[in-house]
Amino acid sequence: MAPQQEAFIGSIDQGTTSSRFLIFNKAGEPVASHQIEFKQIYPQPGWHEHDPVEIIESVEKCIDKAVAQFEEQGHSGKSIKAVGITNQRETTVVWDWTTGQPLYNAIVWTDTRAQALVRKLKQRLGANDLQSICGVPLSTYPSVSKLLWMFENVPAVKECYDKGNLAFGTIDTWLVYKLNGGLDRKVFVSDPSNASRTMFMDLKTLDYSDSLLDFFRLDMSKLKLPKIVKSGDPKAYGSLASTVLKGLQITGCLGDQSAALVGQKGFKPGLAKNTYGTGCFLLMNIGEKPVVSNHGLLTTVAYDFHNMKPNYALEGSIAVAGSSIKFLQNNLEFIESSAKVSQLAETVEDNGGVVFVTAFSGLFAPYWIDDARGTLFGLTAYTKKGHIARATLEATCFQTKAILDAMGKDSGHELKELAVDGGMCNSDLAMQTQCDLIGIPVIRPAMRETTALGAAIAAGMATGFWTSLDDDFKEVNSRGTNTFRPSVGAEERNKRFARWEKAVQMCRGWASG
Ligand code: G3P
Repeated sequence: MAPQQEAFIGSIDQGTTSSRFLIFNKAGEPVASHQIEFKQIYPQPGWHEHDPVEIIESVEKCIDKAVAQFEEQGHSGKSIKAVGITNQRETTVVWDWTTGQPLYNAIVWTDTRAQALVRKLKQRLGANDLQSICGVPLSTYPSVSKLLWMFENVPAVKECYDKGNLAFGTIDTWLVYKLNGGLDRKVFVSDPSNASRTMFMDLKTLDYSDSLLDFFRLDMSKLKLPKIVKSGDPKAYGSLASTVLKGLQITGCLGDQSAALVGQKGFKPGLAKNTYGTGCFLLMNIGEKPVVSNHGLLTTVAYDFHNMKPNYALEGSIAVAGSSIKFLQNNLEFIESSAKVSQLAETVEDNGGVVFVTAFSGLFAPYWIDDARGTLFGLTAYTKKGHIARATLEATCFQTKAILDAMGKDSGHELKELAVDGGMCNSDLAMQTQCDLIGIPVIRPAMRETTALGAAIAAGMATGFWTSLDDDFKEVNSRGTNTFRPSVGAEERNKRFARWEKAVQMCRGWASG
């Protein structure tokens, strides 16, 4: 087929450290892309912010640059039929509804400044019932803790709320609002996979819950929350108001971890994926009914496609994965680039007795220890940089093992293999370590742009670009895989894991004084 007759879908991938725009063909292959890293703002220990304006500018620039690359290949921008969005979740933006201007930097999902506030909330009557409604445990992680912190600490935000003009959004909402031209059209929506990360949404109704809003004492006459619409919708998300793709419809939106599950074709209960991005997130499809975890996991919306019933997922969230490699690069200056971490780790045969609990934001699933902090155990005069590099890679793998154990108990599905993606999965050493620790094969696809593909699928399913999750996707993302197989036995695996668990218990309480 001549290039100009083909049709394509665009995908905005707004992550924690960079924004990207990718263009996919019908086989789910990316044909053009552009990526821009943006500023990470760390004003104090435990604080992490982004500039909401820089985020929008980076996204728009990525669109223009990727389309230019696409057109250089002989395609026409007009052959892009719709755009999907995927984004870092929980990160919270507030703006003045009358001006469209943000009132504070975005508070990023990793930020732990609300720790004291969360402790107080946990004392309130009903605190133990929240997770059964929204799927998320009360912690510094969901958006609500960030919003309530701003009410108490940022006068401009409180004043705007008191005047009844405060708009709240996760990154999807902010992107859709601004990409539609902001004040001009005021498109103000969120999809359920993102809204389920705020602690405001009831998982069963996929709408805001009065019990949750009452618990947090939010006055809904003063706060504007986005309308929750399906993850794929031909009309609800509006269209691009600027860039070279001006006028093009946005028809899909998914939180990045849900998007990766979709991009890995996790459409059936029991299918799971683990994405090693800035953090690491294991999601398992659990079908059309939400199951609330009893073992430290979250319940979230996997996807809610156009003309289909919603599907849910159990999730194990690890706050620190790729960011620990960046820490080795930027803070400890052990490596020049993240890609060099395996090389450094391979300079030694094993971890030399070092365990690194990379609890830079406390520990998330399945432990939920908010006052844990990053701790290195087992240092001796023998310890070299390579041992620390190995222990850093292993930290994410150990937490994944703990999550898989919890997931087996909650879901009743024993995982037979684990599909992986995200930057750290490029390391053969990390994936072999992962495989050895969980004792099942680890499957790495050749096409690893699964997150962006997931958003394209949400958008494409809403416009008829793809029509059936069964038939249309046989050929999508099927370029082959690498399989890692366990090379150690259960005894060795259990010994290593027991040492990790001991280290986890020993780093409790550090941030409590
Ligand atoms: O929940 C946070 C998550 O959405 C961030 O994903 O890819 O930036 O680690 P990532």
